[in-house]
Amino acid sequence: MAAEKVHIFDTTLRDGEQVPGCKLNKKEKIEVALKLEELGVDIIEAGFPVSSPGDFESVTELSKIIKKATVCGLSRAVENDIKVAGEALKFAAKPRIHTGIGTSDSHIKFKFKSTQDKVLERAVAAVKYAKSFVEDVEFYAEDAGRTDDAFLARVCEEVIKVGATVLNIPDTTGYCLPEEYAAKIAYLRDNVKNIDKAILSTHCHNDLGMATANSIAGVQHGARQIECTINGVGERAGNTSLEEVVMILNQRFKGQFETGINTKMLSYMSNLVSERMGMIVQPNKAIVGANAFAHSSGIHQDGVIKERTTYEIMNPLDVGVDHSSIVLTARSGRAAIAYRSKLIGYDLTKEELDVAYDHFLDLADRLKQVEDSDLEKLLKTKIYSVAG
Ligand code: KIV
Ligand code: ZN
Repeated sequence: MAAEKVHIFDTTLRDGEQVPGCKLNKKEKIEVALKLEELGVDIIEAGFPVSSPGDFESVTELSKIIKKATVCGLSRAVENDIKVAGEALKFAAKPRIHTGIGTSDSHIKFKFKSTQDKVLERAVAAVKYAKSFVEDVEFYAEDAGRTDDAFLARVCEEVIKVGATVLNIPDTTGYCLPEEYAAKIAYLRDNVKNIDKAILSTHCHNDLGMATANSIAGVQHGARQIECTINGVGERAGNTSLEEVVMILNQRFKGQFETGINTKMLSYMSNLVSERMGMIVQPNKAIVGANAFAHSSGIHQDGVIKERTTYEIMNPLDVGVDHSSIVLTARSGRAAIAYRSKLIGYDLTKEELDVAYDHFLDLADRLKQVEDSDLEKLLKTKIYSVAG
């Protein structure tokens, strides 16, 4: 059976850009969007056009230049938001309006001081109005993670009736456990009568560190679109990280699910977004962190030098990192010293290695990490100067 496509909806330029201090200017947004298109994302959420003239202009510009990916603009379930989003998207080859409203009891009571019936009415009206601008309308049920399943199913069914093409089920507050989120998606798949007319989408926040797990659980139970950002940037603790979900689908669900992502660009994209947003990537970040393919303990280094797959479940080349690194620290063993010495041109005999290793341990206890230049100095002064 052919693998099923999981659409990748990138919201780095909208949800990701909501991070304080990470605002991108129009030129930077264009640069990132063109690279996202090259990366192979299916949908680029370009911004929230009504939120500022700058965002309106950015969405308009991106609509003109992005040809392969769908360009999406966010709006609340408010007529003027939808109209402005429609205007900003008018040049897009493949435009999508993303509109929606909070559906949880908390949002209905405290944000809207309203009722379920009135919220349902607004949801339907918003989708209907958005359809007067574009064919492709995605509906989000904000705080779906804490929304009653029966009401959520009712909302989904009604918005599909008036033409919603995608149903976004956000775990806006990052509250769900993977089992709960999976059950919610499965419930919608099994209880919304017209669900075959729309795609279910995940949009998970990372407040409890569950965003990636929840998104994958959603896909396993019927979702076919994942909303995510490069490096997992986004409100508060962030969104689902694009590189994580893509590599999970690649590594663990081969033949079952596929995305259109060119994984060899993942490391590049991570650096680009990190630099343009001025937001560093934690070194131990999965897939794209500086240490994701670095080995520092002697036991691991010995294994990786003998056979990479002993301690690596994916090939660094597949995510655009040109090699695994053997980092020299006080925890490194002889195999690592021999390996790194050879890389810098010193093929040590067993005796030379024994001498080098003793001196190395002294040095490594003083330095946090021993660089190639330190190692070379050590070899030159402690071994080769003696040898002649
Ligand atoms: O987290 C969320 O609920 C959102 C919606 C606006 C889609 O970002
Ligand atoms: Zn969000």
